[in-house]
Amino acid sequence: MCGIVGYVGMKQAAPILLEGLSKLEYRGYDSAGIAVRDGEKDVTIVKAKGRLKGLFEKTEEGKAVPGTCGIGHTRWATHGEPSETNAHPHRSDDGNVTAVHNGIIENYQELKDKLLRKGYTFYSQTDTEVVTKLVDYYYKKYQMGPIDAIAKTMVRVRGSYALAVMFKEHPGEIYCARKESPMIIGVRDGESFVASDVPAILKYTRNVYYIDNLEMVKLSAGQVTFYNLDGEEVQKEMKEITWNAEAAEKGGFEHFMMKEIHEQPRAVQDTLNSVWKDGRIDLEEVGLSDEEIRKLSRIYIVACGSAWHVGMAAQYVIEDLAKVPVRVELASEFRYRKPILEKDSMVIVISQSGETADTLAALREAKNRGITTLAIVNVVGSSIAREADHVFYTMAGPEISVATTKAYSAQLIACDCLALQLAYVRGEITEETYINLIAELQTLPGKIQEIISDKERIQWFAAKFANVQDVFFIGRGIDYAICLEGSLKMKEISYIHSEAYAAGELKHGTISLIEDGTLVISCLTQNDLYEKMISNMVEVKSRGAYLMGLTTYGHYSIEDTAEFTVYVPKTDEHFTPSLAVVPLQLMGYYISVARGLDVDKPRNLAKSVTVE
Ligand code: G6P
Repeated sequence: MCGIVGYVGMKQAAPILLEGLSKLEYRGYDSAGIAVRDGEKDVTIVKAKGRLKGLFEKTEEGKAVPGTCGIGHTRWATHGEPSETNAHPHRSDDGNVTAVHNGIIENYQELKDKLLRKGYTFYSQTDTEVVTKLVDYYYKKYQMGPIDAIAKTMVRVRGSYALAVMFKEHPGEIYCARKESPMIIGVRDGESFVASDVPAILKYTRNVYYIDNLEMVKLSAGQVTFYNLDGEEVQKEMKEITWNAEAAEKGGFEHFMMKEIHEQPRAVQDTLNSVWKDGRIDLEEVGLSDEEIRKLSRIYIVACGSAWHVGMAAQYVIEDLAKVPVRVELASEFRYRKPILEKDSMVIVISQSGETADTLAALREAKNRGITTLAIVNVVGSSIAREADHVFYTMAGPEISVATTKAYSAQLIACDCLALQLAYVRGEITEETYINLIAELQTLPGKIQEIISDKERIQWFAAKFANVQDVFFIGRGIDYAICLEGSLKMKEISYIHSEAYAAGELKHGTISLIEDGTLVISCLTQNDLYEKMISNMVEVKSRGAYLMGLTTYGHYSIEDTAEFTVYVPKTDEHFTPSLAVVPLQLMGYYISVARGLDVDKPRNLAKSVTVE
């Protein structure tokens, strides 16, 4: 998400910044900007919405912005729509501080209110402008220099960030800080670089330093000095990058899909944090009032592909917790079937891109009928986000791999938050249950991480089945929804025929396809349905199926039936899809790799389907 580049040395900075930014394009962005300083002169800022081409043109490929010290940024909107005003770099009111930032400042609203009271004004909707002005505030208040001002800011802000800052009174210097968002420092004779990812500086140097969490660094031409939060100098060892440029973009992973699978704990955490306030869920930014929630009579969830699978899982959670009837529909069907929509119903559309043609058309259909609409969307400022009455942004960051993983997980958690809030506001769950379930949601990122850390076991199993013809996924209830997604992951990237079936439905036809050695993946995470699922597994096993089981720790009797079992940590049963889907994503991935296929760009598929 977003990209930072900075340079200070003896060369012209702007062309190096632009070149670096273009190497970060793969991260996804909707606007870009640079700030360059020519000696003691004031900073020149140039920004452009859209592709980098616009910034290249505006700056005459950098030639129109002279100076040997500068910072640049590609922005992927999280707070505030994509626009030139919201693009970075941002400046404090008198130009004392100029900054670019990656990540999310969770308490930006509270900090903004504080700064407004101190007389600051704001021109953008970004959290970055807030953090820039907070640095300015501490710089002027304590007058103890840039490192002290940044350290005080770091203590005050909550969230994740990588910051690169220039101060008017410190020409030829760039100051950086980070917490959780990635950032590296590069050096070579008389030149220093900063970037959020290796590819941006690989052309210039392979000698890098890694900044640890809650550390700061001062860059001047060829000199870098690191500091801890107390402002004390920290010694660092220089490392040499040995990867090639393409591998660097993937952060060392072989494919974007694997990188994105690994980004799931963060995507889930960030999405959760975006509506989490003091142990409760706060939908103020989504704009859904308690009154609207109370009068809801029915919910329609409309989406395509994996987003539709999220809806399938969400219906169980919403109905069970909030007791609101839910109907889940494919957008391509909904838009033409002339649905009967009750006056007090709400249509929830789910979309990563926010541009899927059928989902957009379904949203418009609902709006034309005067029904309240809520969009769960990943891309800020997308068509669906702009047109829906309410928007719940998932915080997955840009997703490159066609087969979705982290956006799916972020959508699931968004639905869980929504279900919980609906249940609480409508008085269907007690205060205690509400608080406990929210606390349980907070454990999911760590549990997802645990599953990913054990991925080699799945890799081993997947390698044995790389040449199968067919795979069947079976499950009941919410596990059936997980099966739908597992099956799609399998077929879309490995080109193996696969189907997901509600386990009880198998005997009405599909069971005739089971032969000796057919792989059947059974998902059984629900206590009440466990025995029934075991019976369904025995049915296929007795017809020759080879069984993989997917369940939670504790259900060890599964080993009497399944040949291979994957366990996921226990959580509240409403939330198991967030965990159970991960091994299935890994299965699809490893089988595709074993078959030598193009994992990130499967044939015939598009990441965003903007045509009918
Ligand atoms: C495409 C993608 C899927 C995605 C679907 C819906 O088919 O390959 O991964 O689930 O579109 O996309 P959306 O952007 O609306 O979530």
